[in-house]
Amino acid sequence: MKFARRLSKIKISGIRKAFESAGKDFINLGLGEPDFETPAHILNAAERALREGYTKYTYNKGLPELRKAISDKLKRENGVEVSPECVIATAGASEALHISLLALVERGSEVLIPDPGFVSFSALVRLTEAKPVGVKLREEDMAMSVEDVQEKISARTRAIIVNSPSNPTGAVQSEEDMRALAEIAQDKNIFLISDEVYEHFIYEGKHVSPARFAENVVIVNSVSKTYAMTGFRLGFVAVKNEEYVEQMLKIHQYIQACAPAVSQIAALAALKGPQDSVAKMREEFKRRRDFVVEALQQLKEESGKGEGEAGCGIVSFTVPRGAFYIFPKVQNEEKFVEHAFRRGVILTPGSTFGEGGRNHVRISFAASIEKLKDAFERLKS
Ligand SMILES: Cc1ncc(COP(=O)(O)O)c(C=O)c1O
Repeated sequence: MKFARRLSKIKISGIRKAFESAGKDFINLGLGEPDFETPAHILNAAERALREGYTKYTYNKGLPELRKAISDKLKRENGVEVSPECVIATAGASEALHISLLALVERGSEVLIPDPGFVSFSALVRLTEAKPVGVKLREEDMAMSVEDVQEKISARTRAIIVNSPSNPTGAVQSEEDMRALAEIAQDKNIFLISDEVYEHFIYEGKHVSPARFAENVVIVNSVSKTYAMTGFRLGFVAVKNEEYVEQMLKIHQYIQACAPAVSQIAALAALKGPQDSVAKMREEFKRRRDFVVEALQQLKEESGKGEGEAGCGIVSFTVPRGAFYIFPKVQNEEKFVEHAFRRGVILTPGSTFGEGGRNHVRISFAASIEKLKDAFERLKS
């Protein structure tokens, strides 16, 4: 059988593969989702919604009350004015990224993506038959440099993807960077897709959406991480221009029809209800971040003394200011990941996220302090 050529350069995500091959007593630090329960008021809203008949299609764009709540959230939290008409509720940020790219780029286009960056960026660009062009992240803070973006822009560039806080590095782009990226996109007449799914998990600095500074920004976000709702599959795209939304809607309408009705009601409860669970998660992630930074520092010092297996040393790392990942540079990523696996700890090899991630590993701290302690004990041995 012949399959579509566009799939030839797409691999099944290495993260899932590692996960599937693990035994029961493994500690999985490869995961990209909060290990917290979805808050009770959200679950109650979902349960009620099912009984009240939210089991059918909704409008393609989503329920008007949800789109209004998203528009209010963008104004309140991000300082961005987006009309509810310019919001589409999607099946997670994943679908939001997909319909944005399908609407904005095509064969022959180039899309600048952070390297290392979230695995879906390059794969989704390839699905549109456009070319992902990696912008190597700065060594010192693992963030995307505006100068490097400028250097990579060509006549074929149609979009830039920015992701702050970053998966996999935890870097947070500054306000200055976001403004500059927005202005570049505006000047060059290209789109800026801003993936903001980790916006609430920032430990130093603050989240700034580039949509504050330019018209041609596509905001991609979801309730997955903020409210521990990954399984609800509810995200959104928000834009300032009705034409963009009309184009994206053509795709959303045919590939998804609408986001799940029950999840739309759950997301509405999340956005309009108490926000204390978000602050609690952020505090806990910060506590874990601090623990992991210290444990890695010790591991680095020990490996510097020549202890441990060859190739398994930690070369350097930057302290993540956001998200729930740390991305140390190691002597040899294969050896490091293998060594960890033999001791029952799952980590993600850095090159999964692009060439720029080679000889790094991603350690997720979306696991309890107890599990993290156990994992670092195992890594030390
Ligand atoms: C940067 C980034 N964007 C988007 C997603 C997808 O999120 P969702 O569950 O909303 O589809 C993830 C999930 O790991 C992510 O890390």
